[in-house]
Formats: sequence, C-alpha cells, structure tokens
Amino acid sequence: MRIAVLNGPNLNLLGTREPALYGTDSLADIERSLRGVAEEIGAELEFSQHNGEGDLIDAIHRLRGTADGVVINAGAYTHTSLAIRDALTAVELPFVEVHLTNVYAREPERRHSMLAPAAVGVICGLGAYGYELALRGLSRTLAARV
Ligand code: DQA
Repeated sequence: MRIAVLNGPNLNLLGTREPALYGTDSLADIERSLRGVAEEIGAELEFSQHNGEGDLIDAIHRLRGTADGVVINAGAYTHTSLAIRDALTAVELPFVEVHLTNVYAREPERRHSMLAPAAVGVICGLGAYGYELALRGLSRTLAARV
C-alpha cells in the first residue's frame, strides 16, 4: 500500500514556528517517525511539503495511479481551498486530514475546513502524533477496502 503524506504552507518551519502551539518536532522528525510506522505496517511512504496552493494541487495530481491514499496537513489552505478538495476528489484518493493543533479550539477562521467534507477522517489537536494516527487509520481503511 502506497501512502502519500502531503504538507502545506509554513510546515517546513515546524520545530521553530510557534513551538508553544506546534511543538518542537521538525517536519524531518515527523517524516522519520512516520517512516518507522510505515515499515511496521508495510506501507510505502511518499512525503513532501509545498508552500504554494498550485504546487500542492500539482503534487496531488501526480498521485493519481502512484498512491493508494493521502494524509494531508494543508495548513492554512485547509480553511480556504476548495481547489485542493477538488484536486483530492478528482484523483479519487481517500484521504485523512491532519492538524497538529485543535483548529476547532482556535480562532473562528480556523474552525472551518474545506477538505473535511470529502475526507475519510480528520485528526487534530494531538501534535505530531496525529500524523501517526492518520497513517495507521488510513491504512486500516485502505486494507478494509481491498
Ligand atoms: C495547522 C492549522 C492551520 O490553521 C494552520 O494554518 C497551520 C497548521 C495545524 O497543523 O495545526 O499552518 O494545519
């Protein structure tokens, strides 16, 4: 099973970006720990980060036929981008939305997700561990489908 983990804008700054909110793990730390989980569950992992909305959309398009599912933290685009949801829907890949913070306990503009209506599931508020839960949850969902 091939799972792509996509990260959106500003997540390349994890580790130094508002650590009180987002924690001290860098994106490389998260990738390392996910690779361990992927090995354990027998998944192949593709991990990337894109600051631009169009770059994220292009990355999603490239997943058609090369991935079975997606874990995505679209950062702030989560709250604004119908285009990213359309891309995910267009490539027909099941996806889990993940956020380090509990976006529903933050500013009103973060309490709505454009992606969630099309997601298999949403995990937020559990920090970097949420990525692991998203990967495990998505792989279960994919295994149950075949
Ligand atoms: C985030 C939450 C978003 O509101 C924010 O814009 C981010 C990170 C999170 O992981 O908690 O960039 O997606």
